[in-house]
Amino acid sequence: MSAPPPGAREDHARLLGVGAYRPRRSVDNSEMCRRIDSTEEWILTRSGIRSRRFAEDDETLEYMAGEAAGKALAYAGIDGTEVDTVITASMTNLVQTPPLAAGVATLTGANGAAAFDLSAACAGFCHALEVGSALIRSGSARNTLVIGVERSTDIVAPDDRTVAFLFADGAGAVVLGPGPEPGIGPVVWGSDGEKGDALDMTRTWPEFVSDPAPGQPVIRMDGRRIFRWVVEGMVDVAHQALDKAGVTLDELSAFIPHQANARIIRMLAERLGLPERVAIADDITESGNTCAASVPLAMERLLAQGRAGRGELALLMGFGAGLGYSAQVVRLP
Ligand code: ACO
Repeated sequence: MSAPPPGAREDHARLLGVGAYRPRRSVDNSEMCRRIDSTEEWILTRSGIRSRRFAEDDETLEYMAGEAAGKALAYAGIDGTEVDTVITASMTNLVQTPPLAAGVATLTGANGAAAFDLSAACAGFCHALEVGSALIRSGSARNTLVIGVERSTDIVAPDDRTVAFLFADGAGAVVLGPGPEPGIGPVVWGSDGEKGDALDMTRTWPEFVSDPAPGQPVIRMDGRRIFRWVVEGMVDVAHQALDKAGVTLDELSAFIPHQANARIIRMLAERLGLPERVAIADDITESGNTCAASVPLAMERLLAQGRAGRGELALLMGFGAGLGYSAQVVRLP
């Protein structure tokens, strides 16, 4: 991540803009406790969540992604017609085809761009960021939209107290473009399908079609198991991402992990030995766990709060169902 020599070619990728869409309806813990057997105190202390956003019918994945993307383009000062690639990451798209990204491209004025979807659960955004960055570095793409978007409420049972308070809706987007120096560091990513049953669906859609009575597929999660997997494994992943980027903890301005749970984030920061002055992104308190949308949403809030600035170094990290993870160091847009 060092400075380029004068006259260097623009064959690296960098972040140019970020944008967010948070659904209109905010649901606080007292309202949540009218749906599930829980207490406001339990939810706050166990997860760090005070309120979350739930999308209404008109706040579709395409609409939310388009709104977030439009704001990211405005931030970057780039017109939709200048975008040649759109990648959407989501784990809650219930429509097999056409790809969500194609509709988002049209909505943002980028009709004609290459557009495709990617699914890697809560690590989806950081996976999509690496794919977008690699396409730019290889010369296959220039201005690229990478969007994480979720309507978790479509696949969560509203009365299941193990998950209903945690997952929420929203969209976050970034614009990537070519640059003369690396603005998106090398990725560290992987998966452990042997632990896939720690977060999966209660049944398949074909099972639902042949027997609707037990209800549609919904998320089923062993929260304690995932918690342990994250705090035991992700510190090493973070160190690898820093090492690969040639960045030390002291050079970081911000830590922007997946907003899974405030306790997980705190424990990761402690075990990493993050210096006090490094800003730790907090979007979970008011947005809940928005899966693939959480890292760009947290980035947008952190920058809007002025807790980190343009061009400063941030460590991004996504983890979740799969189980899977993805991390990289970036220069903030
Ligand atoms: N209200 C009150 N009590 C509850 C609730 C609730 N909503 N839910 C569970 N409990 C009870 C349990 O029954 C248990 O009772 P017991 O001790 O008598 O058995 C007790 O509270 C503790 O339950 P735990 O599951 O151990 O609670 P924990 O402290 O682990 O917190 C949580 C649960 C918040 C879900 C946490 O485990 C977590 O956040 N895990 C990680 C989630 C995550 O990262 N998911 C993956 C990323 S998202 C993705 O990929 C889609």
